Amino acid sequence: MSQYPSAAPGQKTFKLNTGAPIPVVGLGTWQSAPGEVAKAVESAIKAGYRHIDCAWMYGNEHEVGEGIKAAGVPREELFITTKIWGTYHRRPEEGLDDSLKKLGLDYVDLLLVQHWPIPLIIRGDEKIPLNADGSRAIDAEWTVEQTWELMEKLHATGKAKAIGVSNCSTAYLERILSKAKIVPAANQIELHPFLPQHKLVSYCQSKGIVPQAYSPLGSSGGPVLQDPLVTEIASKHGADPAQVVISWAAQRGVVVLPKSVTPSRIATNAKLITLSDDEMLKLNELSQQPGKAVRLIQPAWGVDLQFDN
Ligand SMILES: NC(=O)c1ccc[n+]([C@@H]2O[C@H](COP(=O)([O-])OP(=O)(O)OC[C@H]3O[C@@H](n4cnc5c(N)ncnc54)[C@H](OP(=O)(O)O)[C@@H]3O)[C@@H](O)[C@H]2O)c1
Repeated sequence: MSQYPSAAPGQKTFKLNTGAPIPVVGLGTWQSAPGEVAKAVESAIKAGYRHIDCAWMYGNEHEVGEGIKAAGVPREELFITTKIWGTYHRRPEEGLDDSLKKLGLDYVDLLLVQHWPIPLIIRGDEKIPLNADGSRAIDAEWTVEQTWELMEKLHATGKAKAIGVSNCSTAYLERILSKAKIVPAANQIELHPFLPQHKLVSYCQSKGIVPQAYSPLGSSGGPVLQDPLVTEIASKHGADPAQVVISWAAQRGVVVLPKSVTPSRIATNAKLITLSDDEMLKLNELSQQPGKAVRLIQPAWGVDLQFDN
């Protein structure tokens, strides 16, 4: 067990390098269909969630804002994250302002840039501009280091209490850190027992960067929740498979962002269970079994993001 970092089981918040607490479990909002996400957010906050993970790209921040308002919890009790999309890398303040307007907020607690570390060319309102051959139109004249410099300026405005990154491999983090005045507070990456990201998690933690798990349940229709080890541990604890994988990530010191629009699942997903050292070890090593390791979220960027799988 000792070769894998761990946090106190059941911990409710971790600390960002700004000193601010970040709730360990946050509600994901990607692919929450129109008409569903406001209710999901309201139901999550009423069930005790204080952390909501949003993004400009998800196209539903106005509904997330409605859910936040309907829940009636004071703003300062909530931790809201949003992300800057590739077409805003040269102008992150515009992206953040648009998100804030839609969310009905005047600041976010965490702003992640490089939703993917890939600047896209700006062509009207297109979210994913394409080249004539159908490939994604990447802005080759702009770098992640330049984007981070603009993020640091944006942080100074107070509209983003902390700034971080998303989908950054160690190689990309090293590029940013080589120029950064502010160390990213978080790195949001795909992470579940079939993609445990041990090296990247350790690297982030060694730099004071809080790792965040997206698609922690293996995303919609993924194989993780049906895995025999996961279901066996779940039945031993009288818990849902989702609680097992969420608690496993949290017990490693990783913030976890399960998405659900189903009130009963939203409620159980936030109930962490305590896994034994043996269960942690088995889950930590599950992806080493033949055929298990998988990266589920792989947009066709046509760029090597230099992840160490
Ligand atoms: N930074 C990035 O590039 C990035 C990429 C992907 C995701 N994210 C963030 O991470 C969040 C989570 O990732 P994700 O949406 O890909 O997938 P996920 O949270 O791994 O899985 C969501 C799926 O699991 C189902 N589910 C939820 N709770 C369950 C439970 N207790 N038992 C069984 N099934 C359950 C949901 O269904 P129902 O909703 O129908 O209940 C949904 O189909 C996103 O919403 C987003 O906020 C970020």
